[in-house]
Amino acid sequence: MFAELAEPPLDPILGLAQLLARDASPDKVDLGIGIYHDEQGKAPVLDCVKAAERWLVENQPSKRYLSSAGNPDFNLQMRGLLFPEGSDAYQRARTIQAPGGTGALRVASDLLKRLRPEGRVFIPGPTWPNHPGILKASGHEIVVYPYYDLASGALKFDAMMAALADLRANDTLLVHGCCHNPTGADLDIDQWSAVADLLEKAGAAVLVDLAYLGLGDGLEQDAAGVRLLASRLPELIVASSCSKNFAMYRERVGALTVVGGSEKDAVLAHAHTLPVIRTLYSMPPDHGAAVVAQVLDDATARAGWEVELRTMRERINTMRERLAARLAGQSARDYGFIARQRGMFTMLGISPEGVETLRRDHHVHLTSSGRVNVAGLNSKNVDRVADAIAAVSQG
Ligand code: LMR
Repeated sequence: MFAELAEPPLDPILGLAQLLARDASPDKVDLGIGIYHDEQGKAPVLDCVKAAERWLVENQPSKRYLSSAGNPDFNLQMRGLLFPEGSDAYQRARTIQAPGGTGALRVASDLLKRLRPEGRVFIPGPTWPNHPGILKASGHEIVVYPYYDLASGALKFDAMMAALADLRANDTLLVHGCCHNPTGADLDIDQWSAVADLLEKAGAAVLVDLAYLGLGDGLEQDAAGVRLLASRLPELIVASSCSKNFAMYRERVGALTVVGGSEKDAVLAHAHTLPVIRTLYSMPPDHGAAVVAQVLDDATARAGWEVELRTMRERINTMRERLAARLAGQSARDYGFIARQRGMFTMLGISPEGVETLRRDHHVHLTSSGRVNVAGLNSKNVDRVADAIAAVSQG
């Protein structure tokens, strides 16, 4: 059975770790997988996480099974990050814990397949490369809608809306809630409103991937799109993640929130996620979610987290400005879009050959799609990286 197997292709993102490990240069720069690095080039554990872990070691009363929905405190807190407590959307929402944003997306995908077996899922082009795989694993037909113009670094909003006119009532629209991965280009509030109008008319479902909450403009600002959708549409599904905003990548902490037309509908939808989870992984691992709950439950710890999150966000946005300015100094092209975009990523239109040259000759590692993780830049490497990008890029 195994002997005949051919080598599988490397994952376009996770596979980069092998190429990075093979590069012996002391000056190598990791702009591949979406991990936040600080000014020293390290990806440390947040102080608030360390403190909560210490507390848990001393005080966690039991490791008995929870339900398939995971940690109830975590679920309440994650719901509160999406929608202000007491708001209409908060009442109409229920959250389950999932193993990372990926796990939440897979649960959502399987749930949608059960509820709308004939429906298609519309995904942006480009999108996170794992989206199609997750959706296809549940058996979905996928339609790619235009989203981003590589040449100008702007959204193709008109083309997107024209393509979405094809949405039918049993289809689902997948959107990135903020910090679009891989482009960094997000909808503004008027564009969210136009999308809500279109979805209202079509009666299609919407799945929001919100993996970067707090890393764009702030916790409230980054939730504006999802809140607008919840205020206008009866139903919504949101996959969120603590991998980035709590820097808990390997702990696999995510959540899936279902919003119903009423609280009763949300409770019912929540109940229908449980058998999906039971067959996929029975219940999520607790540790990371218990840590997040511990931080968010305690006002002082939460304030500490918000400071650490702001530090990450502001450093990313500073690096965006520095990269844009340095590139602009060497090209007729307007790179202002890099500074206007948000989140970890941008796409500069570097060809796969250019990416290979960057890796081989400059020890700068990106995905072969030309996605740059801005959060891997720092004061020491940003100018060198910009110069290398300018040397290999076409525009
Ligand atoms: C990324 O896009 O780099 C991250 O979301 C990590 C991943 O799982 O792909």
